Amino acid sequence: MNTHRTILGLRAEVLRFKRSGQSVAFVPTMGNLHSGHYRLVEIARERADRVVASVFVNPTQFAPNEDFERYPRTLEADAEGLARAGCDALFAPDSAEMYASEAGLAVVSVPALSNLLCGAFRPGHFDGVATVVAKLFNIVQPDFAIFGEKDYQQLAVIRAMVRGLSAPVEIVGAATVREPDGLAMSSRNQFLSPEERAVAALIFQTLGAIARRYRDGESVDSLESYGSAQLKQVGFNVDYVAVRDALTLGAVSADQAAVVLIAARIGSTRLIDSLKIELNA
Ligand code: PAJ
Repeated sequence: MNTHRTILGLRAEVLRFKRSGQSVAFVPTMGNLHSGHYRLVEIARERADRVVASVFVNPTQFAPNEDFERYPRTLEADAEGLARAGCDALFAPDSAEMYASEAGLAVVSVPALSNLLCGAFRPGHFDGVATVVAKLFNIVQPDFAIFGEKDYQQLAVIRAMVRGLSAPVEIVGAATVREPDGLAMSSRNQFLSPEERAVAALIFQTLGAIARRYRDGESVDSLESYGSAQLKQVGFNVDYVAVRDALTLGAVSADQAAVVLIAARIGSTRLIDSLKIELNA
Protein backbone atom coordinates (compact mmCIF):
# COMPACT_ATOMS: atom_id res chain seq x y z
CA MET A 1 0.00 0.00 0.00
CA ASN A 2 1.37 3.41 -0.99
CA THR A 3 0.86 6.41 1.27
CA HIS A 4 0.42 9.71 -0.59
CA ARG A 5 0.92 13.11 1.01
CA THR A 6 0.02 15.05 -2.12
CA ILE A 7 -3.09 15.33 -4.29
CA LEU A 8 -0.97 14.80 -7.42
CA GLY A 9 0.57 11.58 -6.08
CA LEU A 10 -2.77 10.11 -5.06
CA ARG A 11 -4.39 11.09 -8.37
CA ALA A 12 -1.61 9.44 -10.36
CA GLU A 13 -2.15 6.15 -8.52
CA VAL A 14 -5.95 6.26 -8.89
CA LEU A 15 -5.50 7.00 -12.59
CA ARG A 16 -3.44 3.80 -12.91
CA PHE A 17 -6.28 1.83 -11.28
CA LYS A 18 -8.88 3.36 -13.56
CA ARG A 19 -6.82 2.97 -16.75
CA SER A 20 -6.66 -0.75 -16.11
CA GLY A 21 -10.44 -0.83 -15.80
CA GLN A 22 -10.59 -1.24 -12.03
CA SER A 23 -13.36 0.22 -9.88
CA VAL A 24 -12.47 2.22 -6.76
CA ALA A 25 -14.14 2.34 -3.33
CA PHE A 26 -13.18 5.09 -0.91
CA VAL A 27 -13.15 5.17 2.92
CA PRO A 28 -12.60 8.69 4.33
CA THR A 29 -11.48 8.86 7.99
CA MET A 30 -9.79 11.09 10.53
CA GLY A 31 -7.50 8.25 11.58
CA ASN A 32 -6.96 6.61 14.97
CA LEU A 33 -8.58 3.64 13.35
CA HIS A 34 -10.61 0.98 15.15
CA SER A 35 -12.74 -2.03 14.15
CA GLY A 36 -15.55 0.28 13.00
CA HIS A 37 -13.26 1.87 10.41
CA TYR A 38 -11.81 -1.49 9.36
CA ARG A 39 -15.32 -2.81 8.77
CA LEU A 40 -15.76 0.02 6.24
CA VAL A 41 -12.59 -1.14 4.47
CA GLU A 42 -13.98 -4.69 4.37
CA ILE A 43 -17.22 -3.43 2.80
CA ALA A 44 -15.18 -1.36 0.33
CA ARG A 45 -13.27 -4.47 -0.72
CA GLU A 46 -16.54 -6.31 -1.36
CA ARG A 47 -17.75 -3.45 -3.58
CA ALA A 48 -14.77 -2.59 -5.76
CA ASP A 49 -11.47 -3.81 -7.23
CA ARG A 50 -9.40 -1.21 -5.38
CA VAL A 51 -9.74 0.50 -2.01
CA VAL A 52 -8.47 3.99 -1.22
CA ALA A 53 -8.63 5.32 2.36
CA SER A 54 -7.86 8.79 3.66
CA VAL A 55 -6.62 9.95 7.05
CA PHE A 56 -7.08 13.67 7.58
CA VAL A 57 -8.09 15.41 10.80
CA ASN A 58 -10.10 18.13 9.09
CA PRO A 59 -9.74 21.42 10.97
CA THR A 60 -12.78 23.06 9.35
CA GLN A 61 -15.27 20.67 10.98
CA PHE A 62 -14.11 21.51 14.52
CA ALA A 63 -15.32 24.67 16.28
CA PRO A 64 -12.63 26.69 18.11
CA ASN A 65 -13.72 25.26 21.50
CA GLU A 66 -13.73 21.62 20.32
CA ASP A 67 -11.18 18.81 20.48
CA PHE A 68 -9.17 19.39 17.25
CA GLU A 69 -5.88 19.76 19.17
CA ARG A 70 -6.30 16.65 21.29
CA TYR A 71 -7.84 14.49 18.54
CA PRO A 72 -5.60 11.37 18.55
CA ARG A 73 -3.14 11.18 15.63
CA THR A 74 -1.70 7.70 15.02
CA LEU A 75 -0.80 7.67 11.33
CA GLU A 76 1.89 4.99 11.48
CA ALA A 77 -0.37 2.45 13.21
CA ASP A 78 -3.27 3.44 10.94
CA ALA A 79 -1.17 2.86 7.79
CA GLU A 80 -0.10 -0.57 9.06
CA GLY A 81 -3.69 -1.49 9.92
CA LEU A 82 -4.99 -0.34 6.55
CA ALA A 83 -2.33 -2.29 4.67
CA ARG A 84 -3.23 -5.40 6.68
CA ALA A 85 -6.92 -4.81 5.97
CA GLY A 86 -6.23 -4.88 2.23
CA CYS A 87 -6.36 -1.17 1.45
CA ASP A 88 -4.50 -0.33 -1.80
CA ALA A 89 -3.68 3.36 -1.33
CA LEU A 90 -3.74 5.81 1.56
CA PHE A 91 -4.17 9.56 1.17
CA ALA A 92 -2.77 11.39 4.21
CA PRO A 93 -2.40 15.07 3.33
CA ASP A 94 -1.56 17.89 5.72
CA SER A 95 -3.78 20.96 6.10
CA ALA A 96 -1.68 23.04 3.71
CA GLU A 97 -2.17 20.45 0.96
CA MET A 98 -5.96 20.42 1.49
CA TYR A 99 -6.51 24.12 2.16
CA ALA A 100 -3.73 25.82 0.22
CA SER A 101 -5.01 29.38 0.44
CA GLU A 102 -7.77 31.40 2.05
CA ALA A 103 -8.46 32.98 -1.35
CA GLY A 104 -9.09 29.58 -2.91
CA LEU A 105 -11.59 28.48 -0.28
CA ALA A 106 -14.94 27.17 -1.52
CA VAL A 107 -17.64 25.87 0.79
CA VAL A 108 -20.22 23.12 0.24
CA SER A 109 -23.34 23.28 2.37
CA VAL A 110 -26.48 21.19 2.83
CA PRO A 111 -28.64 23.73 4.68
CA ALA A 112 -31.74 21.56 5.15
CA LEU A 113 -29.85 19.00 7.26
CA SER A 114 -26.98 20.95 8.77
CA ASN A 115 -28.59 23.14 11.42
CA LEU A 116 -30.64 20.57 13.33
CA LEU A 117 -29.62 17.90 15.89
CA CYS A 118 -25.78 17.94 16.08
CA GLY A 119 -25.71 20.98 13.78
CA ALA A 120 -27.53 23.05 16.41
CA PHE A 121 -24.76 22.28 18.92
CA ARG A 122 -21.85 22.40 16.48
CA PRO A 123 -22.38 25.44 14.22
CA GLY A 124 -20.49 25.08 10.94
CA HIS A 125 -19.61 21.43 11.60
CA PHE A 126 -21.56 19.91 8.72
CA ASP A 127 -20.38 22.58 6.27
CA GLY A 128 -16.86 21.55 7.23
CA VAL A 129 -17.72 17.87 6.70
CA ALA A 130 -19.57 18.41 3.40
CA THR A 131 -16.75 20.59 2.06
CA VAL A 132 -13.91 18.23 2.93
CA VAL A 133 -15.81 15.18 1.66
CA ALA A 134 -16.63 16.98 -1.61
CA LYS A 135 -12.92 17.84 -1.97
CA LEU A 136 -11.90 14.27 -1.18
CA PHE A 137 -14.41 12.95 -3.74
CA ASN A 138 -12.90 15.29 -6.35
CA ILE A 139 -9.40 14.14 -5.47
CA VAL A 140 -10.09 10.39 -5.34
CA GLN A 141 -12.99 10.23 -7.84
CA PRO A 142 -14.26 6.95 -6.39
CA ASP A 143 -17.10 4.82 -7.75
CA PHE A 144 -18.26 4.06 -4.18
CA ALA A 145 -17.71 5.72 -0.82
CA ILE A 146 -18.41 3.96 2.49
CA PHE A 147 -19.70 5.80 5.57
CA GLY A 148 -20.78 4.53 9.00
CA GLU A 149 -24.35 4.83 10.28
CA LYS A 150 -22.72 5.63 13.63
CA ASP A 151 -22.59 9.23 12.36
CA TYR A 152 -26.17 9.06 11.18
CA GLN A 153 -26.69 12.74 10.44
CA GLN A 154 -23.33 12.94 8.67
CA LEU A 155 -24.38 10.07 6.39
CA ALA A 156 -27.66 11.90 5.64
CA VAL A 157 -25.74 15.11 4.86
CA ILE A 158 -23.36 13.26 2.51
CA ARG A 159 -26.22 11.49 0.71
CA ALA A 160 -28.02 14.84 0.26
CA MET A 161 -24.81 16.53 -0.89
CA VAL A 162 -24.22 13.85 -3.53
CA ARG A 163 -27.82 14.22 -4.77
CA GLY A 164 -27.65 18.01 -4.66
CA LEU A 165 -24.37 18.22 -6.60
CA SER A 166 -25.13 15.21 -8.87
CA ALA A 167 -21.78 13.78 -7.77
CA PRO A 168 -20.94 10.56 -9.66
CA VAL A 169 -20.38 8.39 -6.61
CA GLU A 170 -22.54 5.76 -4.89
CA ILE A 171 -22.78 6.19 -1.12
CA VAL A 172 -22.84 2.97 0.92
CA GLY A 173 -23.93 3.00 4.59
CA ALA A 174 -22.40 0.57 7.09
CA ALA A 175 -23.93 -0.69 10.35
CA THR A 176 -22.37 0.56 13.59
CA VAL A 177 -19.67 -1.65 15.11
CA ARG A 178 -20.03 -1.86 18.90
CA GLU A 179 -18.12 -2.93 21.99
CA PRO A 180 -19.49 -6.06 23.74
CA ASP A 181 -21.60 -3.89 26.08
CA GLY A 182 -23.12 -1.99 23.15
CA LEU A 183 -21.06 1.21 23.25
CA ALA A 184 -20.46 2.36 19.66
CA MET A 185 -16.75 2.22 18.83
CA SER A 186 -15.28 5.71 18.55
CA SER A 187 -11.87 7.34 18.60
CA ARG A 188 -13.24 9.49 21.42
CA ASN A 189 -13.98 6.54 23.76
CA GLN A 190 -10.34 6.57 24.92
CA PHE A 191 -10.98 9.95 26.56
CA LEU A 192 -13.42 8.30 29.00
CA SER A 193 -12.30 7.65 32.58
CA PRO A 194 -13.06 4.12 33.89
CA GLU A 195 -16.13 5.51 35.71
CA GLU A 196 -17.36 7.31 32.58
CA ARG A 197 -16.71 4.24 30.44
CA ALA A 198 -18.79 2.14 32.85
CA VAL A 199 -21.91 4.27 32.34
CA ALA A 200 -21.36 5.00 28.63
CA ALA A 201 -23.16 1.80 27.58
CA LEU A 202 -26.37 3.34 28.91
CA ILE A 203 -26.61 5.29 25.65
CA PHE A 204 -27.11 2.10 23.65
CA GLN A 205 -29.46 0.64 26.26
CA THR A 206 -31.54 3.83 26.13
CA LEU A 207 -31.68 3.70 22.32
CA GLY A 208 -32.95 0.12 22.53
CA ALA A 209 -35.55 0.93 25.19
CA ILE A 210 -36.85 3.91 23.19
CA ALA A 211 -37.10 1.81 20.00
CA ARG A 212 -39.12 -0.86 21.86
CA ARG A 213 -41.44 1.64 23.51
CA TYR A 214 -41.94 3.55 20.22
CA ARG A 215 -43.06 0.33 18.56
CA ASP A 216 -45.47 -0.17 21.48
CA GLY A 217 -47.06 3.19 20.64
CA GLU A 218 -45.52 5.60 23.19
CA SER A 219 -45.39 9.24 22.04
CA VAL A 220 -42.23 10.88 20.75
CA ASP A 221 -42.40 13.59 23.44
CA SER A 222 -42.69 11.09 26.23
CA LEU A 223 -39.84 8.96 24.83
CA GLU A 224 -37.51 11.93 24.42
CA SER A 225 -38.13 13.01 28.03
CA TYR A 226 -37.65 9.43 29.25
CA GLY A 227 -34.34 9.11 27.41
CA SER A 228 -32.97 12.43 28.69
CA ALA A 229 -33.95 11.56 32.26
CA GLN A 230 -32.25 8.15 32.04
CA LEU A 231 -28.98 9.69 30.88
CA LYS A 232 -29.03 12.66 33.26
CA GLN A 233 -29.47 10.28 36.18
CA VAL A 234 -25.96 8.85 35.67
CA GLY A 235 -24.29 12.21 35.03
CA PHE A 236 -24.65 12.89 31.31
CA ASN A 237 -25.24 16.39 29.97
CA VAL A 238 -27.74 15.66 27.24
CA ASP A 239 -27.55 17.63 23.98
CA TYR A 240 -30.54 15.79 22.54
CA VAL A 241 -32.56 12.60 22.54
CA ALA A 242 -34.64 12.66 19.36
CA VAL A 243 -36.98 10.33 17.48
CA ARG A 244 -37.04 11.46 13.84
CA ASP A 245 -37.96 10.41 10.32
CA ALA A 246 -35.14 8.07 9.26
CA LEU A 247 -34.70 9.76 5.87
CA THR A 248 -35.42 13.47 6.34
CA LEU A 249 -34.46 13.74 10.05
CA GLY A 250 -37.61 15.87 10.38
CA ALA A 251 -40.65 15.08 12.54
CA VAL A 252 -41.62 11.44 12.26
CA SER A 253 -45.03 10.22 11.14
CA ALA A 254 -46.47 6.88 12.19
CA ASP A 255 -46.20 5.22 8.77
CA GLN A 256 -42.59 6.24 8.03
CA ALA A 257 -39.37 4.59 9.18
CA ALA A 258 -37.95 6.26 12.29
CA VAL A 259 -34.55 6.61 13.90
CA VAL A 260 -33.66 7.48 17.47
CA LEU A 261 -30.58 9.64 17.93
CA ILE A 262 -28.68 10.64 21.04
CA ALA A 263 -25.86 13.12 21.67
CA ALA A 264 -24.67 13.45 25.25
CA ARG A 265 -21.58 14.65 27.06
CA ILE A 266 -19.93 12.96 30.00
CA GLY A 267 -16.99 14.81 31.54
CA SER A 268 -15.28 16.46 28.57
CA THR A 269 -16.28 13.81 26.04
CA ARG A 270 -19.21 14.09 23.65
CA LEU A 271 -20.70 10.79 22.49
CA ILE A 272 -23.25 10.22 19.72
CA ASP A 273 -25.18 7.13 18.74
CA SER A 274 -28.35 6.15 16.91
CA LEU A 275 -30.62 3.22 16.19
CA LYS A 276 -33.03 2.73 13.33
CA ILE A 277 -36.44 1.61 14.54
CA GLU A 278 -37.58 -1.44 12.63
CA LEU A 279 -41.38 -1.21 12.76
CA ASN A 280 -42.06 -4.86 12.07
CA ALA A 281 -39.19 -6.27 14.15
P1 PAJ B 1 -14.16 9.42 11.53
O1 PAJ B 1 -14.82 9.84 12.79
O2 PAJ B 1 -12.74 8.97 11.56
O3 PAJ B 1 -15.03 8.31 10.89
C1 PAJ B 1 -14.72 7.78 9.62
C2 PAJ B 1 -15.84 6.85 9.17
O4 PAJ B 1 -15.91 5.75 10.09
C3 PAJ B 1 -17.23 7.55 9.21
O5 PAJ B 1 -17.97 7.16 8.06
C4 PAJ B 1 -17.83 7.00 10.49
O6 PAJ B 1 -19.25 6.97 10.47
C5 PAJ B 1 -17.26 5.58 10.50
N1 PAJ B 1 -17.30 5.01 11.84
C6 PAJ B 1 -16.81 5.55 12.99
N2 PAJ B 1 -17.09 4.75 14.05
C7 PAJ B 1 -17.78 3.68 13.56
C8 PAJ B 1 -18.36 2.51 14.14
N3 PAJ B 1 -18.29 2.28 15.44
N4 PAJ B 1 -18.99 1.64 13.32
C9 PAJ B 1 -19.07 1.87 11.98
N5 PAJ B 1 -18.55 2.95 11.37
C10 PAJ B 1 -17.91 3.85 12.15
O7 PAJ B 1 -16.48 10.79 10.23
C11 PAJ B 1 -15.36 11.27 10.06
O8 PAJ B 1 -14.21 10.65 10.47
C12 PAJ B 1 -15.15 12.59 9.35
O9 PAJ B 1 -16.23 13.44 9.62
C13 PAJ B 1 -14.94 12.45 7.82
C14 PAJ B 1 -16.16 11.83 7.12
C15 PAJ B 1 -13.69 11.62 7.52
C16 PAJ B 1 -14.74 13.87 7.20
O10 PAJ B 1 -13.67 14.52 7.78
